[in-house]
Amino acid sequence: MARFPKPAEGSWTQHYPHLETGAVSYEDSISPGFYALEREAVFRRAWLQVGRVEQLPRNGSFFTRELAVADTSLIVVRGLDGEVRAFHNICRHRGNKLVWTDFPREETRGVVRQFACKYHGWRYDLDGRCVFAQQEGEFFDLDKADHSLVPVHCDVFAGFIFVNLDREPSQSLREFLGPMLLAIEDYPFHEMTDRYSFRVECRANWKVFNDAFMEFYHAPVVHLGQHPRHMRAMIKDAGYEAPHYQIEGPHGVVTTAGSLHRGWEMPPENVKPADLATRSGLFGAWEVPDLGELPPGINPAGVQPWGLSSFQFFPNFAIVIWQTGWYNTHQFWPTSHNTLMFEGHVCSVPPRNASGRIAREMAAVAFKEYALQDANTLEATQLGLESRVVERFPLNDQEVLVRNFHQAVGSWVGEYERKRAKG
Ligand code: FES
Ligand SMILES: [Fe+2]
Repeated sequence: MARFPKPAEGSWTQHYPHLETGAVSYEDSISPGFYALEREAVFRRAWLQVGRVEQLPRNGSFFTRELAVADTSLIVVRGLDGEVRAFHNICRHRGNKLVWTDFPREETRGVVRQFACKYHGWRYDLDGRCVFAQQEGEFFDLDKADHSLVPVHCDVFAGFIFVNLDREPSQSLREFLGPMLLAIEDYPFHEMTDRYSFRVECRANWKVFNDAFMEFYHAPVVHLGQHPRHMRAMIKDAGYEAPHYQIEGPHGVVTTAGSLHRGWEMPPENVKPADLATRSGLFGAWEVPDLGELPPGINPAGVQPWGLSSFQFFPNFAIVIWQTGWYNTHQFWPTSHNTLMFEGHVCSVPPRNASGRIAREMAAVAFKEYALQDANTLEATQLGLESRVVERFPLNDQEVLVRNFHQAVGSWVGEYERKRAKG
């Protein structure tokens, strides 16, 4: 594998002086009090990814999102003008949840011209305006114009729909994302409409889970099973080092080299039999679609051979773009201080034939298998942290994004507390 120089200071971490190199506390991942602050300081202030524009194919298409972290539910809808908007999913009459199907706590989707409340029948148009109040004359000076659905700031980047629950976000979505993430905008996400989706509830703090998707130091250990048995001792001993890390504000990217990604170039005995049979695996289908020239921001350091770039969108979303012409996403939704709902999507251009379908099934199944390997380990990590037997933990240079991520959460919480103290 080609080697790539680290920054001048000799380490990724020291390239970013604000990070320092000391051992860190994980109290932020086990404290219910800190979680209560994060909900306000991070999840009610940051831009949060909630879905793709392909989920809203027509004017009138909508889906709901349950956001336990903010104690709310959202309606995300494409209006008759084609614009994507978001509203809190709450009827203005007496607070009934407006849109749900069989079970009030479950998400739903569909196509409508108006939203009608299941309680007393008030109706709202797709812009959120209240257009009908049952027996309106019975009310006292009711002005329907004052009873629109409560809007949520909503914007779209590269087909990903983001919301911001702050009444007045301090930054636009594009300001929040910054140049490093904006540089992937022209990747052909819109062509990758073949999508497998997974959700799993896990007993770990959302940051503890996110940490494992920001470094590959664990890969030769936790995911050793991806290699044929005769290679495992060698791979475990060699360890792994990613060739490029980059930080911009709270966000980050890590790029890996691609020598292991090219199963078709490896001796067959070094490839798992299931991968050989399906011409696919964890690294995606071997038949790589022609996507044309990719934006340079996909591989910001020009690593060759390139494997993947994993873009960390603060606070809880990541897009992993693979050399093999597909992408997947990770998202980490806290449900309490020590539980989360992990959501993953595996997206590629639709297959052209049956073997392409099998290759995609294999890639999706491999993704699920590896995510579950992480989930299992991270429940164990949470247990260890919660014992509070050890108070400080060393992070190595490959854990630089982990260090930055926890610092970013800490500084958002600190800023929120300072503002609150000032009133
Ligand atoms: S609560 Fe919705 S119409 Fe009464
Ligand atoms: Fe992992």
